[in-house]
Parts: sequence; structure tokens; C-alpha cells
Amino acid sequence: MYQSQAVIGITNARKNPPLAQCVWPADALNNIPDWVYTSQAIYDQEIERIFRGETWNFVALEAEIPNPGDYKRGYVGATAVVIVRAEDHTISVFENRCAHRGAEFCRASHGNTKEFVCPYHQWSYDLKGNLQGVPFKRGINKVGGMPPDFRNAEHGTRQLRVATRNGVVFATYSDKTPPLEAYMTKEIVEEFDVPFSGKKLKILGYCRNELPCNWKMYHENLKDPYHATLLHSFLVVFGLLVPGIKSIVFADKEHGRHGYMASAKPDEIYATVAADDKAEMRSFSDSLRLRDERFLDYVREFDSPWSANMMTMWPNLIVQRQMNTMGVRQIIPNGPNSMVMQWTMFGYEDDTPEMTRHRLRQGNLMGPSGFLGLEDNEALKFVQEGIRNSSTDNNVVKLDAGHQGTARNLISESCIRSLYQYYREVMDIRVAEKAA
Ligand code: FES
Ligand SMILES: [Fe+2]
Repeated sequence: MYQSQAVIGITNARKNPPLAQCVWPADALNNIPDWVYTSQAIYDQEIERIFRGETWNFVALEAEIPNPGDYKRGYVGATAVVIVRAEDHTISVFENRCAHRGAEFCRASHGNTKEFVCPYHQWSYDLKGNLQGVPFKRGINKVGGMPPDFRNAEHGTRQLRVATRNGVVFATYSDKTPPLEAYMTKEIVEEFDVPFSGKKLKILGYCRNELPCNWKMYHENLKDPYHATLLHSFLVVFGLLVPGIKSIVFADKEHGRHGYMASAKPDEIYATVAADDKAEMRSFSDSLRLRDERFLDYVREFDSPWSANMMTMWPNLIVQRQMNTMGVRQIIPNGPNSMVMQWTMFGYEDDTPEMTRHRLRQGNLMGPSGFLGLEDNEALKFVQEGIRNSSTDNNVVKLDAGHQGTARNLISESCIRSLYQYYREVMDIRVAEKAA
């Protein structure tokens, strides 16, 4: 999909083991082996069991395709799909692969059309992905052409199941995936409905960046409040997340695969941090001040105890709400050592022009080159580099040991542990026996 893997180089064989050699260390909850992030065989299995398994994958916001004929190119896992609104206003998601010879027939990133025509030999598809036309189907002067038993209905695109909630569109490959709300679980639905209450959305813009790291690292990053107060000096100095403020790292109770990291910013612009905590946080500086303090204005717009809520919905969606900047981010896996992050920033149709300006200004916190995004991107890159090139092979997740799932303290890796327990089950990964 993208090129940087060539730049990073080739993964050596020890870091790229076949499935049979992928055995998790015996102390499974407190360790993550490197091959989880570097093995091609593991990645291939993730595409089959996770992205094409019993999961709802985020694909679009309805506001991107409001009218019949509107379409958008997208991804389910690494597989290219098209998301289209048909004449009857229903939404279809189908693979962007021509049933003839496999061409990705939809070339534009979005647009409006009456049909899709493959550029290679001009087979055409309707807005639900059904094959409708094959040029020279009966040959020329009855010579050549398709066999008489060729039926268009048997040669459409691969079509996925679709579900929507309050303007957000999901697709799944599996007939067994439970209804969307059951899949999300109750608490995740409640938080999801805060920005997505059914109010009409307005798309504010897109960003896209490639990250030279494994796609799961982004889930971990958002289940890892420990780094947030240490890596992100901006979060700390401006009081967005400091030890002692009201916060939670939540993992869904059913599987531990979805979750969110939420916090409530105190009213002051700048943080007050206890002397003891300061000593632990080298990135904290009392003297940093904003030139333009409007950047951190907060207009309370939701009935929610949280001013920030970063939600991860397994396997590919991040719902970002940090004060008044909002967006969805789609994780697109791109081989074991790379992922693409597709950002869609939004507000609401009834926002005033001032509110839109404010959301855009505050968007500089989060984007790929924003105060927070930039630091995460860089950190995940050097984690992947360390993992790919080292002689040792293990990662330690012992903070707040013995706990799994939701944590109300920031110095915890309990949500990472619950995610990987679930992951081992779905991927059917063996855990080594404890030494006698
Ligand atoms: S590959 Fe699409 S028409 Fe031939
Ligand atoms: Fe971060």
C-alpha cells in the first residue's frame, strides 16, 4: 500500500517467525513478545481472524456520503472497499476489486456517480456492487464473448454487511458478528453517543499519515495513560492530564478489546502539580505559557463528566474528543511494520462560524503534526525500530500488576493486559508452560 517498509529495511528471520514458533511467554499477562509486532504470519492471521472476522470495522461517516450516488474509497483492514449511498438511500460497502481480473476499479477517493465502470475492460457495477454490464458479452458477430451460461448475478463484487449508528458507518465480513450495539457493549455505546448523538455532523477536513509501526501499538497507546503524563509535556503543562485529576482508563467488561481514556480538565488554564509529582516528570515546566490562550478555550457542549475522551473501538476506530476538537481516526494496517492513520475532523451542521474556527484552531492539538499526535507518532516509530533491530525479544507490562481492565489511576497498564488476553484467544496463540 505504502512504501516506507522498503526504507525501513527487511525484518530479520528471528523477528519474523512462522506461526508455529509464536508461543507467548509463560507469565502471559505481564509480557508481550516482539513477534506480536513483527511477524508476517501473525499479521496475515490478524487480517483473517480480526479484520475479516467477527468485528465491526469503521468505514465512513454518513456526512461524507449524504446524497444518492455519493461514494468514498476506504478500507476494511488492509482491503480496499467502496462505501456508497444508493438511490434508495441505503449504504453499501463492497470490495474495490473488479470481478473480472481484479482491478481496483474505483480510482477517485470520493465523488458522485450513477455506476462504477472498471477502467481496464469497462465492466460496470451498480451502486450496490452488482455487475450490470460486460462489453462484447456476446462477442463480435457471435464470435468470442462470454459462455452462454455466464450470469452477471454470479459475478458481482464481494459485498459486506453494513451497520450504522448516529451517522457512523461500519462493515463486517462475517455473518456471525453480533448487532453493532451488542458488539460495542453498553458503556462504549454511552460514550460513543456523546459526540454522536444523532446531531448532523459537518466534515471539517482530512489528514492522512503513515506510521512505521505495527497497528496494535496505536490501541496500546490509547490504553496507556502512563506515557501520557510523561511523553506529552503539553498535556501536563496545560493541565489537560496531570496526576491527581479526575480520569479513567476504561476497558469494556465483556472482552477488554474496546476502551477509552477520559479526563476532566480543571478550570485553570495551567496545571498545578505537586512538588513530588514534578520530580517524576522531567517534561513538566512551570514556565511554559501560551501566546494565544484561546487555543485552550473550552465550550461545554455535552452532558458528560469528561472534557476529553479518546475512545478505541476494536479493531480500527478511534473516536477523538479533546475539549472542542473532534474527529474519527481509522487505523489501516499495512503489513506488520506499518500502518496508515486516516483522520476525519468534524463539527456539527448547526455550529456558528466562530465555533467552527475554534474547533479548527483546537484541532492543532491532535492532528498528525499537532502537539500530541506528533509525539505519539515519533514514539511509536522508535518503539518499532527498537523491536525490529534488537537482540532481545520481550516487552514488560508490569505496572499495576495483578490488575486487568479499567483503572482509575494513571500509572497502570491494566487495559493493555486485558487487550492482549482477548487477542491471544481470538488469534489462538499458545502460552508457554510455566517451568516446574
Ligand atoms: S479487470 Fe475490470 S473489467 Fe477487466
Ligand atoms: Fe500519547
